[in-house]
Amino acid sequence: MRSRALWLASLAALFAGLGCHQDMWLQPKALSQTKTPVFANAAASRASVRGTVEFGKPMTDEAYYTGRVNGVPVSEFPIPVTEELLRRGKERFMVNCSHCHGAIGNGKGMIAQRGFTLARPVGNYHSERLRNMPIGHFFEVITNGYGTMYPMKSRIKPADRWAIAAYIRVLQRSQYTPIQQIPQEEAARLEALPREPGQDAPPEPKIMQPKPAMPAGANL
Ligand code: HEC
Repeated sequence: MRSRALWLASLAALFAGLGCHQDMWLQPKALSQTKTPVFANAAASRASVRGTVEFGKPMTDEAYYTGRVNGVPVSEFPIPVTEELLRRGKERFMVNCSHCHGAIGNGKGMIAQRGFTLARPVGNYHSERLRNMPIGHFFEVITNGYGTMYPMKSRIKPADRWAIAAYIRVLQRSQYTPIQQIPQEEAARLEALPREPGQDAPPEPKIMQPKPAMPAGANL
């Protein structure tokens, strides 16, 4: 008898609870084109605030977001190039690019060594053409992809794309800098390095050769 009364009471409480669904039905929010006491002119729909970018509106800094101005790749960075930016660029380059392009950007990363080059060679940043490319080109390649390289705009935000582009310039300098532009004592040190006969530049770094394929069922 007692447990039946308890059962009925809790059922009644349950229905009472379900009956008055105040929680999500009445919300303290203003619907568009309605009145609100919050603002002096009583309009719930507000004009955009000056100097701010509205959600979903096109991003207006063309150079920063596209790497181009009037359809031409920019040759100057749209942001200050600082040591911090270069360090960030190095870190992001190692994460996003080095497995194909190699740690020095010569196009001989591990994926290239394992057969990616069969379709088209992975870009080598040290060609004369790429050394002379305006910086906007590198931003654009990361953003939209290039030939068989996929676009990365969905996974690398613009600030990091510029950081990586800046680091590509570091890599290019690391492999090709006229001796006159190097501090004197550093130049002397480089000149003193041993060379092969007839060689006029330091040797290319040794690249690991691909390993032979594992036999099926090999014990790893
Ligand atoms: C999955 C491999 C892969 C990854 C990862 C990759 N690339 Fe590439 N990249 C390529 C290939 C392949 C090409 C050559 C494409 C072609 O010529 O069709 C290329 C070409 C390039 C070029 C040369 C474009 C030109 O004008 O010749 C640049 C610059 C470049 N990549 C930058 C980057 C940067 C920066 C990253 C990282 C944010 C990156 N790539 C990540 C495979 C890759």
